[in-house]
Formats: sequence, structure tokens, C-alpha cells
Amino acid sequence: MPIFNTSKLVTIERHIAEEQAFYAGATGEFSRLMRDLTLALRIIARDVRRAGLSDVLGITDSQNVHGEQVKKLDEYANDVIFRAMDHGGHLCAMASEESEGIIKIPSEYRKGKYVLLFDPLDGSSNIDVNAPIGTIFSVYRRLDSNADTDGTEADLLQPGYKQVAAGYCCYGSSTVLVYTSGNGVDVFTFDQTIGEFLLTYEKIKIPKRGKYYSINEGNYHKWNTRLQQYVNYLKMPSDDKQRPYSLRYIGTAIADVHRTLHYGGIFMYPADKSAPVGKLRLMYEVNPLAMIIEQAGGRATDGFGRVLQQQPIEIHQRVPVFMGSEDDVLEAEAFMQNRHPSQQL
Ligand code: AHG
Ligand code: MN
Ligand code: MN
Repeated sequence: MPIFNTSKLVTIERHIAEEQAFYAGATGEFSRLMRDLTLALRIIARDVRRAGLSDVLGITDSQNVHGEQVKKLDEYANDVIFRAMDHGGHLCAMASEESEGIIKIPSEYRKGKYVLLFDPLDGSSNIDVNAPIGTIFSVYRRLDSNADTDGTEADLLQPGYKQVAAGYCCYGSSTVLVYTSGNGVDVFTFDQTIGEFLLTYEKIKIPKRGKYYSINEGNYHKWNTRLQQYVNYLKMPSDDKQRPYSLRYIGTAIADVHRTLHYGGIFMYPADKSAPVGKLRLMYEVNPLAMIIEQAGGRATDGFGRVLQQQPIEIHQRVPVFMGSEDDVLEAEAFMQNRHPSQQL
């Protein structure tokens, strides 16, 4: 599949402004929120590119040339997003993988009608080896849209199907921003010579079935029998040549999901004996990625039900996940529920 399908020259800002024009009552607040967020993404992209050259590379305890404490790149990315988003007047609260509780908007700034949840740098273990890493984000409307007070935990803890926008920015061989506001998924590629994200793939659709599976197979002996049966099945050659599947696993959820979005197949982070509810975080990893996958025509479940339906109970909760091509995820669910024909033999 080509990774470009459009010849239109459109920046992300124009794209969002055009999308907003379809919503009656849009005040421009959401467009300004996204403008501030993409500024943060551009800054993080720049610093990820320089990571190998500067002191920010993977060290917390050393000092830079100014004698200042150097931050790890994920803490640094967290600060950049906070500093880009705290004063715009469009948010009433934030939450991040790098902060324990709710992140308040400083008292001097206006409180807006949205909340933002984010994983500032996904794939931290890949920072030092030049493998893809990224930022994930999720936006909801606050519960009381007329309020101008601080947002509460209840504003943040909404089920994923209520997200008004979600996406991720992958800092790989190029910087790619994948975005949805519930009207399909569009892909933008950063052109650093002009400092803009340009539309490169409009309304991307995930293949109905793929040939890749993506899971940390080192955990095989910690899985339950049903999951072992599913992965054994994927590796077993079939007469129709659909199997064996190929294994791809980067260990950065964004990068594994990004490949799955383009090529199809399935990405999994299941529960296992040492991670009884999986590893990935519902609010700022799984929900935004699930919204992208569903908006592209795929499927995202915990093996039993749609993840976007889950009522969250706390900001950092984890959830098992199976996401990707519809037919692949349905098959995984059949195995997890012990109703795949091959399990009855
Ligand atoms: P983070 O770097 O934000 O902590 O997330 C890392 C996550 C995710 O990106 C990836 O899919 C997963 O950890 C990999 O975990 P394993 O090393 O257990 O496979
Ligand atoms: Mn992460
Ligand atoms: Mn992270």
C-alpha cells in the first residue's frame, strides 16, 4: 500500500479548521487547542532528532554544560506539552503518564471546555537505540460545558467512546502525525524545512485482514492456554497460504500500531501471570490508539469487549488489548473465549 494517497497541499491547521467548519457552534477553541498541541509535537520532534547529540539522551542524574540537572527525554516531553497547553484557555485539566494525579491549569489562566490526556513519550526503552518513539494524546469535552472552574477527575475519567479527538505522533524515519476527530483517520508528515505537518494520507483504512502479528512473545509461558493456542495457530502453515503469519514487534506501541494501521494484522498486549490486566494504560495509550484503529475500520478489544466502552476508574489503570484488522481481532477473540473451531478438536 502506498504511504501517500493525496496530492492536496494541506497543513494540519487548515485541515482542522476545515473540519471544524462542519460543526455547528464550533467556537475555534478546539482548533486552538490542536494548534498548541502540534507546536509541542514539533518541539519534541526537534529534540528527539537531536537526542543523540545533546545531553537530553536518556540520562537523569548527570549535569549539562550549564551545570543544570538534565532531564530524561520523557520528562522533558512532558514539560513541553504542559508548557504549550497550560495557558491557552482551552483546557480545564490534563493527565499524563509522567504525573501521578490530575494536572491542574495554573490559577492565573482561563479554564476551557476540554481535557487532555497524554503519554509524552511512548517507547522509552527505544530512545537510546534510535528506534521509533512517539507521543499519544486523547481529548474529551469536560462534563459541564458551561463551567469555567478547574476540571475534576470525573472530567478525565470518561469512557473512550466519548473522545472528541485522539492521535499519536511517531518520531521515526520521518515524523508522522496520525489524527482523528471522529471523521476518519488522516495522516500528516512533518516537513522540517517549512516546519509544517502536511497531509499525506487522507481517510486511511486498515486492511480487513493482515499477515502480521505483534506481541511480546517472550511472555509466552506466562500466557493462558487460549492465547498460546491463538499464537500457535498463527504460526501454523495453512493450505490456503494465509498462515503462517510473520511476527513484528518493536516494543513501542505507537510504532507497532502504526505498522498495523498500514499493513493490517494484529497488535496485542495481553494479560499474563505477572501482568494480570496487561501493561498498557487505558486512558492515554489504549483508548486513543483504539479510536484511531476503529476510525480506520479496525477493531480494538480486551479479548471480550470493546475497550472504548470501558468505564475508567483511575487515570493510570491498565487494560489487556487486541487491536488491528477486524478479521484478525475477531479471530483472537474467538480463541480468548474458547470458541474457535480449532479449539474444539
Ligand atoms: P512507555 O515507554 O510509555 O512506558 O510505554 C512502553 C510500552 C509500549 O509502548 C510498548 O508496547 C510496551 O511498553 C512494550 O512492553 P514490553 O517491553 O513488555 O514488550
Ligand atoms: Mn507508553
Ligand atoms: Mn511514556
